[in-house]
Amino acid sequence: MLQDKRILLIVGGGIAAFKALELIRRLRERGAHVRCVLTQAGAQFVTALSLQSLSEDKVYTDMFSLTDESEMGHIQLSRQADLLVVVPATANLMARMASGMADDLASTVLLATDKKVLIVPAMNVRMWTHAATQANLATLKARGVEVVGPVEGAMACNEFGLGRMVEPNDIVAAIEAALSPQARPLAGRRAIVTSGPTREAIDPVRYISNQSSGKQGHAIAAALARLGAETILVSGPVSQPDPVGVRMVKINTAQEMLAATLAALPADIAVCAAAVADWRVAQRPNAKIKKALYGPPPRFELVANPDILATISKGDVARPKLIVGFAAETEAMLDNAQAKRKRKGCDWIVANDVSPAMGTFGSDSNTVHLLSDAGIESWPTMTKVAVAEQLAQRIAQHFQQAAE
Ligand code: CTP
Repeated sequence: MLQDKRILLIVGGGIAAFKALELIRRLRERGAHVRCVLTQAGAQFVTALSLQSLSEDKVYTDMFSLTDESEMGHIQLSRQADLLVVVPATANLMARMASGMADDLASTVLLATDKKVLIVPAMNVRMWTHAATQANLATLKARGVEVVGPVEGAMACNEFGLGRMVEPNDIVAAIEAALSPQARPLAGRRAIVTSGPTREAIDPVRYISNQSSGKQGHAIAAALARLGAETILVSGPVSQPDPVGVRMVKINTAQEMLAATLAALPADIAVCAAAVADWRVAQRPNAKIKKALYGPPPRFELVANPDILATISKGDVARPKLIVGFAAETEAMLDNAQAKRKRKGCDWIVANDVSPAMGTFGSDSNTVHLLSDAGIESWPTMTKVAVAEQLAQRIAQHFQQAAE
């Protein structure tokens, strides 16, 4: 997909700059031509020589180099590429882009280009969440600049949070998507995905929950985002990393999941992959329940949690055009799943066998059946990522067919 594409890689001054080196290798393996512009700050982190060796092309650093200007003026440099990629996009570089400054080669090239620009931000969490950076981000997005990341994680400054640059493979995927709009059939659509378990407190320290790892739901959100959908992922507590390119809403309880899902409407697509706890404790004490010595164990009255899938499938809310539920079954899978589809009122249901022998919970693979008005489709066992990809493709096809 990247064969003979020309990428102008602008390497900014941040600790994540070293990942630009691996990115160049990944891009070249796919047949792309990479030409680098290295900022003065970037040169504090990686050398022009490394970039030149890996890209096998000249590295541009200076705006006022007579030789560079005679061989390749900065305007040409910005126009000869198919895509400009800024790795890492620092807070400073984003601010200068947003305000239209042209005080070095990188910012001048970015201002002079008529090509698409993809930025890959990386910075300290406080710098990222600062109102100034967020305002610059909004300005850049409104001008059509594409953005991938950042993600949450440990940072070089010993802090933890949102601001870590996405990994080179994710940047490659974003570059491929940016260069092939036809690979984004869900562009302009909005999707809500629920994922993971919910956690229902018994008292301030104990809770009821379940085995869901969130792997399948998170993979579906990532796949829908890759196909161009604006994706909101409402997730219970999981140890999965936040998928690239989705808006995360983290919740604990079923009631919070319902509120977050309703707040995210309207949407074209909803995929309810969460394993919502069906019950919660009716009266939750504010203090930890103590063991009465030799006394009987406590008894709890449970009340039913709201059913998120059923609520959005009924007409009283702005019903998404396509609603996909999951059916986790341990017996009579297809019959139970079909009945569940009717009962909850969703359009499609993905049935999977969660009996312990199948080892579905927490595993990387899944064996599913897709039930719709068109009948039952049984998919071979595949990774959860592949199930997500196939489901996202089917969703895209559904909207394409509906538009024809
Ligand atoms: N679901 C939901 N809200 C709930 C319970 C389930 O949105 N309170 C959704 C799940 O996300 C899934 C579908 O409903 O898409 C079916 O979930 P499942 O656990 O298989 O079924 P239950 O409704 O819990 O029914 P049962 O436990 O009787 O099988």
